[in-house]
Amino acid sequence: LFSAVQMAPRDPIFGLNDQFTQDANPNKVNLGVGVYLTDEGKLPLLECVRLAEQAMLESPQARNYLPMDGIAAYDAAVKALVFGAQSDVVTSGRVATVQSLGGTGGLKIGADFLHQLNPGAKALVSNPTWANHNAIFKNAGFEVGSYTYYDAAGRKVDFDGMLADLRAAAPGTVVVLHACCHNPTGYDLTAAQWDRVVDLVREKQLVAFLDMAYQGFGQGIKEDATAIEKFTASGLSFFVSTSFSKSFSLYGERVGAVSVVTQDKSETERVLSQLKITVRTNYSNPPTHGASIVASVLQNTELRALWEKELGEMRIRIQSMRHALVAGLTAAGVTQDMSFITTQAGMFSYSGLSKDQMVRLRSEFGVYGTDSGRMCVAALNTHNVGYVAKAIAAVL
Ligand code: LMR
Repeated sequence: LFSAVQMAPRDPIFGLNDQFTQDANPNKVNLGVGVYLTDEGKLPLLECVRLAEQAMLESPQARNYLPMDGIAAYDAAVKALVFGAQSDVVTSGRVATVQSLGGTGGLKIGADFLHQLNPGAKALVSNPTWANHNAIFKNAGFEVGSYTYYDAAGRKVDFDGMLADLRAAAPGTVVVLHACCHNPTGYDLTAAQWDRVVDLVREKQLVAFLDMAYQGFGQGIKEDATAIEKFTASGLSFFVSTSFSKSFSLYGERVGAVSVVTQDKSETERVLSQLKITVRTNYSNPPTHGASIVASVLQNTELRALWEKELGEMRIRIQSMRHALVAGLTAAGVTQDMSFITTQAGMFSYSGLSKDQMVRLRSEFGVYGTDSGRMCVAALNTHNVGYVAKAIAAVL
């Protein structure tokens, strides 16, 4: 049965985790996967999460099947966070939200539904993009292409190139956009650029699918939702996937959602019914624990304030590590201008290092980033940043 099965290629991100675990180098640093670690190099258990779990333990509940679209209070909390509780799309019933297995699950449920709706449509992802975008949309049945996004020489968004590629797309094309903290480049669109993208999506009758996995890690919770606000104000129908892996440090709980903004309540009901079938035929219904935590925190005034504070602290620490890395590179003798590291947003720095340099970083220094040159600066700390800077300086 399995004699012809080929070995699958190693996952470009999680494959590195395996390699990192096996590396005997005592100085090793994992800047591969997008995971936030504290200054002590530990995965944080947020205090808001601990308090919500404590309250759950004090009043334990039996676990029945959840509805296919998940916990109602959670879906309501996601809508309020992503679109604003008082926003017209929410109060008029124009959003269908379904709890999903992380942001990846939200992308997959949305992609499956979109492909059933329009099997001939193509999907376009940014070049470069998160390695899994291509595979998710391909596995959902789409032919996947890309639109220009990054100007490597200018270290910025190639906005003209992006507009030209979107302008050339056929009507119905699904365009996957990073709502904030672009993964891997860390370069986001300005508010004015989002206006132009929204106009083009409308003019060319494209379908926007916004991936928002890092809300709160760029400029702030509200600021990072600029793209969502623009699309919401446009009156267009669009998709948003949400992840709480990073913002609640709940990676292993797989807490996410997909939200579909429709034209009216009747469309929402019909879309929701289809999303539920997609969930049912993939994994039936989602798990309880992580979404219960997130719903409790988002709906409780004190826990919500604590979450915002803790998320703000993570954001600020990442910024300080960006500055420390640039200072460390200068101290290690790097003369080229590396200040771009401090202007990129989110968990990653797109370093511009080649694949060969990234391989050398791994094999000679135990410093792990992806082959594309992406490094998770959220895993730097005051103890390892000097070492990482010296390693980068050595391979530059
Ligand atoms: C990443 O980009 O490293 C994270 O989003 C983790 C993942 O699922 O790839």
